Amino acid sequence: NINEIPKDEGIDHSFALLKEGYEYILNRRKNFQSNIFETRILGRKAICIGGKEAAQLFYDDTKFERQDAAPNRVIETLFGKNAVQTLDGKAHLHRKRMFLDIMSKEKINEFLDIVKIEWEKALDEWSRKSEIVFYEEVKALLCKASFKWIGYPVHEDNAERLMNELGAMFETPVAFGPQHWMGRMKRNQMEKKMTELVERIRSGEVQVQPDSILHQFVFYKEMDGNLLDAETAAVEIINVLRPVVAISIYINFIVMALAQFPHERAKLKQHPDYAILFVQEVRRFYPFFPFVLAKVKKDFTWNNFVFQKGTLVLLDIYGTNHDPDLWEHPDEFRPERFANWQDDHFSLIPQGGGISETTHRCPGEKLTIEMMKFALDYLLNKMDYEVPEQDMYIAMNTIPSIPKSKVVLTNVKRVR
Ligand code: HEM
Repeated sequence: NINEIPKDEGIDHSFALLKEGYEYILNRRKNFQSNIFETRILGRKAICIGGKEAAQLFYDDTKFERQDAAPNRVIETLFGKNAVQTLDGKAHLHRKRMFLDIMSKEKINEFLDIVKIEWEKALDEWSRKSEIVFYEEVKALLCKASFKWIGYPVHEDNAERLMNELGAMFETPVAFGPQHWMGRMKRNQMEKKMTELVERIRSGEVQVQPDSILHQFVFYKEMDGNLLDAETAAVEIINVLRPVVAISIYINFIVMALAQFPHERAKLKQHPDYAILFVQEVRRFYPFFPFVLAKVKKDFTWNNFVFQKGTLVLLDIYGTNHDPDLWEHPDEFRPERFANWQDDHFSLIPQGGGISETTHRCPGEKLTIEMMKFALDYLLNKMDYEVPEQDMYIAMNTIPSIPKSKVVLTNVKRVR
């Protein structure tokens, strides 16, 4: 008994994807009343799936693989060549350890200690200004913190330059869609410098602390016992720095949520345990990653639908977080929904699904959540500010989804 997969008819739907952005897959899932449909995007046939059951399927690595799943230009810009995102099986697990090893409680606390110092310094500066663009400020702050966290040894002026390049890698709001998708990221320059740094550390010309993240990455061995080639080591170091800085996007969503839903403030103030519910809801509610990509590893059927080897599959991240079958009133901001919530690893998937030790799920989730809780505490209890009239519109078809005004704050003061 074979079911036919509903089809989004037409030659290519890259334009619709471009126009509808985050909602492209969910809109069609609703229209077809199906958690699976076929389309043509990225120049080839693709199957889009969404929802919990689909996420469970997608993270079954006997059925899907990542190698050659993403188009080359995405790899060359967003991930970097030979990055952990493109690996499968044992090679993936081995490389993944490198990231998981730096996510211990101690390392995350070290990160928060560094951020605290930077945030305090920044707060002094913000207090002296009448107005700040919060997105830019937090990005700069996290840039500095991320370099310190990995143990980057260069002088301040040099670090400053690298910092700007790193920001540029995801800062420019790019049109949604394959042609533009992160295409303008200034990856090459950054990779080149980082590769040089890896080589200089290996040759002993530059010294780094033996217990630093940088040292761990620079001297990490492949399964065959050889060091990673310098370029790949550089790619993976950037794979830590770039997303740490990208947490600035979530921190801005926190400010937006506090402004858009002011009644949440009292609940947060009264119940300290409410913070985690609020943070989870921010991660569920606001758009960040639209979807993830994989390729069918071997022919199989699922719910009587045929998946052919080599077919590109997109898992709907945004739409699963807004799936009406999983979330009551998905388009309402309701942190309470997480009060008695049981994490099944496949319903709340802003940073991927499954278990990060064994799937491609983001290794940085704990750090992201802790950083968000930290920022929420500052915004709520340690600083006063006003949010003047501004356009906080988030376009659903640009990635990353940065509010138009980049969140302007006025009269920022330290609470004493
Ligand atoms: C993977 C989102 C923060 C490092 C991913 C994936 C998503 C994601 C959607 C892909 C999952 C998949 O392919 O199935 C986010 C978001 C973040 C964030 C929204 C918030 C800013 C971080 C942080 C790190 C990090 C702080 C720091 C180390 C990575 C790496 C991967 C990844 C290395 C690839 C993992 C793999 O392929 O096995 N992230 N992430 N991310 N993330 Fe994050």
